[in-house]
Amino acid sequence: MASEVVFSFSGQTVLVTGGATGLGLAIAEAFGRAGAQIALNDLSSDRAEAACASLNEAGIRALPVAADVRDGAAVRAMVESVVANLGAPHIVIANAGVYPNTPFMDLGEEEWDRVLDTNLKGVFLTCQAASRAMVSAGRQGQVVTVSSGAANVGFWGWSHYCASKAGVIGLTRAMAVELGEHGIRVNAILPGYVEVTEGGSHLTEAYKTTARGANLRGRPGEPLDVARATLLLCSPLADFVTGATLSVDGGGSAGRLGVRPAAP
Ligand SMILES: NC(=O)c1ccc[n+]([C@@H]2O[C@H](COP(=O)([O-])OP(=O)(O)OC[C@H]3O[C@@H](n4cnc5c(N)ncnc54)[C@H](O)[C@@H]3O)[C@@H](O)[C@H]2O)c1
Repeated sequence: MASEVVFSFSGQTVLVTGGATGLGLAIAEAFGRAGAQIALNDLSSDRAEAACASLNEAGIRALPVAADVRDGAAVRAMVESVVANLGAPHIVIANAGVYPNTPFMDLGEEEWDRVLDTNLKGVFLTCQAASRAMVSAGRQGQVVTVSSGAANVGFWGWSHYCASKAGVIGLTRAMAVELGEHGIRVNAILPGYVEVTEGGSHLTEAYKTTARGANLRGRPGEPLDVARATLLLCSPLADFVTGATLSVDGGGSAGRLGVRPAAP
């Protein structure tokens, strides 16, 4: 990605969870190109280190901080290591998420728990540990949670995912209320369908073709679209924006597409 630098985040530490690939990596790279130093989390050290190596090659300072966001002790240790090596985060992007697809009536408890634990509890654990460190350091920073358009609309096979992403919006608003006292803004991004190399490998071509075209911009969404919106939310231009949800879906959630009730 050859991103332009629109905002400067020079001297700031940005923690991105699930940053080894997909939207998280694009967000990490965009902040890095805008001058930030990145603490890049993912499930395994190998994945986090490989992603950091690619960022380093682009001249970005990036520290791998592997942890399973479902594990509270691991998340707290991760934040401690960020504080020790890069200082308390100025910005936290709670992005790690999974989206297996299973029909509601076939869905087992194990998969339900994995999705809710990663997508909702993981956001809670990440944001709680990071905001404690931010408040201790007097950082008046920003938190962005990565929800989804699936928070507002039902999708076949994604009952657990839809529930988790709707939960993220409730959590985001409640965090905005409490962390606002400390000068921390908290907002949610709701991406529409964005093609990524790994995360969508289980999706059918029929779904992808439909999803690619389901917006008003005449092109598929890209990870960079989500990254740019995230930087905007964390920039001083969004100083009066907190507790908000920002759809980044090319207008796909705005209405039914191409259905004219009458002849023009
Ligand atoms: N791609 C889309 O179209 C889209 C649309 C809406 C929302 N989202 C959301 O964006 C986020 C990123 O999605 P993506 O498409 O880039 O997915 P992806 O699968 O490409 O990347 C997700 C990353 O999260 C990591 N991860 C998974 N579980 C983890 C855990 N327990 N702890 C730490 N890291 C973990 C994975 O290893 C992976 O590197 C997710 O929250 C997803 O729900 C994606």
